[in-house]
Amino acid sequence: MDVLLLLLLCVLLVGLPNLAIVESRRAPVLDYFEYCAMSCRAYSASLEEFGGVGDGTTLNTKAFQAAIENLSQYAASGGSQLYVPPGKWLTGSFNLTSHFTLFLHKDAVILASQDENDWPVIDPLPSYGRGRDTQGGRFSSLIFGTNLTDVIITGDNGTIDGQGDLWWQKFHKGELKYTRPYLVEIMYSDNVQISNLTLVNSPSWNVHPIYSSNVVVQGITILAPVTSPNTDGINPDSCTDTRIEDCYIVSGDDCVAVKSGWDEYGIAYGMPTKQLVIRRLTCISPFSAAIALGSEMSGGIQDMRAEDIVAINTESGVRIKTAVGRGGYVKDIFVRRMTMKTMKWAFWMTGNYGSHADDNYDPNALPVIQNINYRDMVAENVTMAARLEGISGDPFTGICISNVTIQLAKKAKKVPWTCTDIAGISSDVTPAPCDLLPDQGEEKIGACTFPEESLPIEDIKVQTCTYRRNL
Ligand SMILES: *[C@@H]1O[C@H](CO)[C@@H](O)[C@H](O)[C@H]1NC(C)=O
Ligand SMILES: *[C@@H]1O[C@H](CO)[C@@H](O)[C@H](O)[C@H]1NC(C)=O
Ligand SMILES: *[C@@H]1O[C@H](CO)[C@@H](O)[C@H](O)[C@H]1NC(C)=O
Ligand SMILES: *[C@@H]1O[C@H](CO)[C@@H](O)[C@H](O)[C@H]1NC(C)=O
Ligand SMILES: *[C@@H]1O[C@H](CO)[C@@H](O)[C@H](O)[C@H]1NC(C)=O
Ligand SMILES: *[C@@H]1O[C@H](CO)[C@@H](O)[C@H](O)[C@H]1NC(C)=O
Ligand SMILES: *[C@@H]1O[C@H](CO)[C@@H](O)[C@H](O)[C@H]1NC(C)=O
Repeated sequence: MDVLLLLLLCVLLVGLPNLAIVESRRAPVLDYFEYCAMSCRAYSASLEEFGGVGDGTTLNTKAFQAAIENLSQYAASGGSQLYVPPGKWLTGSFNLTSHFTLFLHKDAVILASQDENDWPVIDPLPSYGRGRDTQGGRFSSLIFGTNLTDVIITGDNGTIDGQGDLWWQKFHKGELKYTRPYLVEIMYSDNVQISNLTLVNSPSWNVHPIYSSNVVVQGITILAPVTSPNTDGINPDSCTDTRIEDCYIVSGDDCVAVKSGWDEYGIAYGMPTKQLVIRRLTCISPFSAAIALGSEMSGGIQDMRAEDIVAINTESGVRIKTAVGRGGYVKDIFVRRMTMKTMKWAFWMTGNYGSHADDNYDPNALPVIQNINYRDMVAENVTMAARLEGISGDPFTGICISNVTIQLAKKAKKVPWTCTDIAGISSDVTPAPCDLLPDQGEEKIGACTFPEESLPIEDIKVQTCTYRRNL
């Protein structure tokens, strides 16, 4: 059966039993429910069993750690799930385990501590060579996992609140000793699901799967002030087989930023992001892109398919960011059915992004940007259709844009397209593209073909799981 159909079936099946809250004399006790996930668990426990207090002021770091430590013993015997009940659960960073599900009730809020002492400092990422905000170490993410197999973070739209304002102030004042933490980071892991949650006010990036494979991010709402620094939505980074779908993101940086390491560190690490599917994404990001590729792309980015994307009041629709010294590649990129409203640029490519890890980058490490396909799109109220800037002596090639209608804003730029150091074709594009993208005529409307065969990650099945409290 088709995955979408399975998912729909799962949602339908789960809809009713969700209400099966067992009433006790005193208060309703939620000790049975169903949800959808890639794998189900044999053993269940609630955070309260480990001393958790959801009053918004008691620190629960030890409760989370003790619970997960305890539950890790079931990894080889059917796995375990930890239920986070309604309440406000203040906590510092904690680590996940394998064959494990963290489930948040819809009225559960995991509240990130604003005390730096609650955030262990860990090594920089090898493919970055340093922290993104500062040299050296970085604060571990709120929910962190490394070297795991089969890990799920889900809930019926429960909330993870990063309480980022203090971190943003420290960032602006240059007061950070280490790089800011992310909300969720999963490293060196296989079979990861992050679904049905709301993430608000992350100190920095929100969801960061890195050096991982078979990752599904689904049904996530991400909200941050549009002026907050570096609050990227979802950043698949050196990952193979990733599916991001049904997400709604309002943020201060790119809604989805596809990455693979930085300059000489990323080149040496050499781990690409490939076989990535992004679909049904809605993005609002006035100062950034709906989908960005880069700027850290030194391990390469290949075979991305994005479809049914809505961008509203967003700076650009798809943006490629790179620089001399990055090396790597961005190739075989396919985007279709994107709807854009109130944009600065529909398409943007930047070959001189700069922003180097340090001064030791190799000036001969030129990125290869090729086979970039955009089709079947409409945009309205756009200041400039496209700004496509390759690298002198290293043009971006194989750009194909077809069946795209861009309605310009009243105060649009006089020249709707600017192109330098690029090569490609176009067909049925309004307003008429630059000379470097010559129109192939009506008969080429089927150009920029979107691949027909599906990627392995599209076949990953979800099933109906149950939570039953072991009383
Ligand atoms: C942790 O696991 C053990 C079994 O090894 C169990 O007896 C114990 O009750 C658990 N601890 C808590 C706080 O639930
Ligand atoms: C989580 O794991 C990392 C890497 O193993 C470790 O450095 C860190 O201290 C752990 N964090 C906690 C809260 O135990
Ligand atoms: C995690 O996996 C990476 C890559 O395979 C490996 O280099 C590292 O030693 C592993 N870490 C632990 C704690 O097992
Ligand atoms: C997501 O949560 C909603 C409730 O907020 C629920 O109806 C739906 O079934 C969940 N979806 C999955 C895939 O679990
Ligand atoms: C989840 O909660 C957010 C924030 O309250 C809301 O905007 C969104 O519509 C909810 N999603 C679902 C599927 O209920
Ligand atoms: C068009 O975009 C401008 C900003 O460039 C905005 O102020 C205006 O409200 C938009 N108009 C519509 C109809 O969305
Ligand atoms: C052109 O794109 C629109 C969506 O913007 C789509 O409805 C239409 O089918 C496309 N036409 C062709 C010939 O693919």
